[in-house]
Amino acid sequence: MRNLLFVLAGLGLLTAAWLFLGGPRRAIDMTAYEGDAMRGAYVARLAGCVTCHTVPEGGAMLAGGAPLATPFGTFYGPNITSDPVHGIGSWTGSEFADALVNGHSARTGHLYPVFPYTSYSKMTSPDVADLWAWLQTVEANNTPSRPHDISNPFLARALMAPWKTLFHDVQELAAMPEQSPAWNRGRYIVDGIGHCTECHTPRGSLGVLDRRRHLEGGTLPPKGGSKGEKIPAITAEALAKRGYARADLLMAFRYGLAPDGDVLGGSMGEVLSDQLEHLSADDLEAIATYLLSGPAN
Ligand code: HEC
Ligand code: HEC
Repeated sequence: MRNLLFVLAGLGLLTAAWLFLGGPRRAIDMTAYEGDAMRGAYVARLAGCVTCHTVPEGGAMLAGGAPLATPFGTFYGPNITSDPVHGIGSWTGSEFADALVNGHSARTGHLYPVFPYTSYSKMTSPDVADLWAWLQTVEANNTPSRPHDISNPFLARALMAPWKTLFHDVQELAAMPEQSPAWNRGRYIVDGIGHCTECHTPRGSLGVLDRRRHLEGGTLPPKGGSKGEKIPAITAEALAKRGYARADLLMAFRYGLAPDGDVLGGSMGEVLSDQLEHLSADDLEAIATYLLSGPAN
């Protein structure tokens, strides 16, 4: 009997240790790529980094401070300019890649998934390298990062390790050769780098995306006294019901207009102005192709 208890206790400890390791990591050899800063500027738009790391209307580029309300409290995007003290100017390329795809910071350790590394883990290694090359050219700003307004931040950060072990998938998206290149590119943007799915797919109680309800919409947490924002479904069916054909979707992405004349606003307004309005016609077409045909089963 006593032996059995020892074995069980041992197994319990091993499981806890395994959970607190934070799960598998994807290694990117950043020395294998010559990052292209010009392309990186485009990758940053595709990924929408500016939205959360820049105070809206007039904040210094990527100097941090944009508030993000969640059921767990308000988070603030940190300073990620090239400032060596307050930004990430002293980081190596591998440390940057580790933050982006593995959710692990050289400064604070395990990162909260409010930073959508759960989507950025799908980024290709050349995109990560180009983005890093561009980030190093962003003007340094010495504004200190604002601490998050959440209860018990130390405990919460420690709990990110088991959360990642259980829920963070570091696999890149495997190309689906039976689908067109445009569809595959669209999926890379919607489910990966463009992280559209992080808002448009509902979440379970532990903040994990409910992949069975892919793009079915939901509600964002309330902020500043106002009710939580409603996120519409953007599945192929829902879009068809709202009257979106391909041309209407492209119109919505370029000008923020829905087929019934509604102006798309709220947090989608920032997605449009910080992200979609800067994308190439080909990439917008790819997003439309993917959304209108729905995911492959
Ligand atoms: C939805 C909002 C959001 C988006 C989009 C976003 N971030 Fe962040 N990011 C955050 C938050 C919030 C944190 C802080 C997380 C924490 O403290 O655990 C963070 C943390 C980071 C860190 C770690 C910084 C540190 O000091 O530890 C890096 C690096 C980073 N983000 C880079 C990026 C890049 C590059 C992009 C675009 C590819 C991006 N972020 C897009 C919200 C976002
Ligand atoms: C920060 C949360 C957020 C993210 C990220 C986001 N959206 Fe949205 N999206 C919204 C909200 C909120 C609306 C509703 C806007 C309105 O009705 O004013 C919306 C509306 C839309 C609509 C119009 C749907 C309709 O019924 O008219 C489309 C299409 C859309 N989003 C596509 C995208 C794509 C593509 C991406 C990724 C590039 C994306 N969204 C990322 C929050 C988000």
